[in-house]
Amino acid sequence: MSLLTLSEVTRTVIPPDQPALTILSGVDLTIEPGDHVSIVGRSGSGKSTLLNMLGLLDLPTSGEITFDDRPVKAYSAAKRDRLRGAAIGFVFQQFNLLPGRTALENVTMPLLYSTGRTFWHRKRIAAEMLELVGLEHRLSSMPDRLSGGEQQRVAIARSLVRGPRLILADEPTGALDLDTGQSVMELIDEVAVRTGAAQVTITHDPTIARRARRHFRLDRGVLTPVDDPSLEPLTRRDRREMAPDAEPAAATDSRDADSDSTLERLGLREPSTSPHGAAPVSTERTDP
Ligand SMILES: Nc1ncnc2c1ncn2[C@@H]1O[C@H](COP(=O)(O)OP(=O)(O)O)[C@@H](O)[C@H]1O
Ligand SMILES: [Mg+2]
Repeated sequence: MSLLTLSEVTRTVIPPDQPALTILSGVDLTIEPGDHVSIVGRSGSGKSTLLNMLGLLDLPTSGEITFDDRPVKAYSAAKRDRLRGAAIGFVFQQFNLLPGRTALENVTMPLLYSTGRTFWHRKRIAAEMLELVGLEHRLSSMPDRLSGGEQQRVAIARSLVRGPRLILADEPTGALDLDTGQSVMELIDEVAVRTGAAQVTITHDPTIARRARRHFRLDRGVLTPVDDPSLEPLTRRDRREMAPDAEPAAATDSRDADSDSTLERLGLREPSTSPHGAAPVSTERTDP
């Protein structure tokens, strides 16, 4: 049984007063339980769009996505939201922690949507997760008192606290120095191996990509398997864009995977009212 499959997936948008733009074309990808896949591709190649498909945030224009061998398009948006919340964890370049909330409160947040025992024991579960990422001494620290590496660890604890079966990482080390980046990736691997979760890592960085078992390259919306991602040449523009201190335009692009609306849909923004038992509000996007 496959965890997630994409067959002939195409995503086309029609910007106002412009011709249709095909962002993904004919993407085939099968993710097995416990799989580890890397995807490299230049800026603008469609990586975030693909990540939104893998994360069940958007549906393809054509083609099919299945989760646990069931076609996702048959699900209501609310059911997809629930499935995503329970089964998929996202790690972004931006840590997206809530300022003014402690590490423990940040990691507890996804559990506000759970029910029963998990909801009741949410603080203990969150504290155990922070211990697992080596931050048991930081439970009551505010994000601005933590280093970049520690903030990413909190973000990872928050992404993994519900025990996802699929971990989707979009440039997870993009804002970290080399050593911190490697140790953060080791941490994700460790948790994935321990829990049997599958991982898909989108990255510019060949050394991060090489950690995966299977490698792909996305080029103008076309996904192809590659033997060794380190043999994929980087352009000077790629290097500039992967630099942590590059101008923030790319990171704040409203279409990026970690845009505000995506964060809201992932429940990484403050829940509005009465969080207990309520799923995050669905804001299904429809392209014009
Ligand atoms: N909703 C949209 N409307 C118009 N263009 C879009 C939309 N989403 C993505 N694009 C364009 O599609 C291309 C791929 O975007 P994206 O998936 O964000 O690439 P990447 O993450 O690889 O940088 C870019 O040229 C982007 O500007
Ligand atoms: Mg992107």
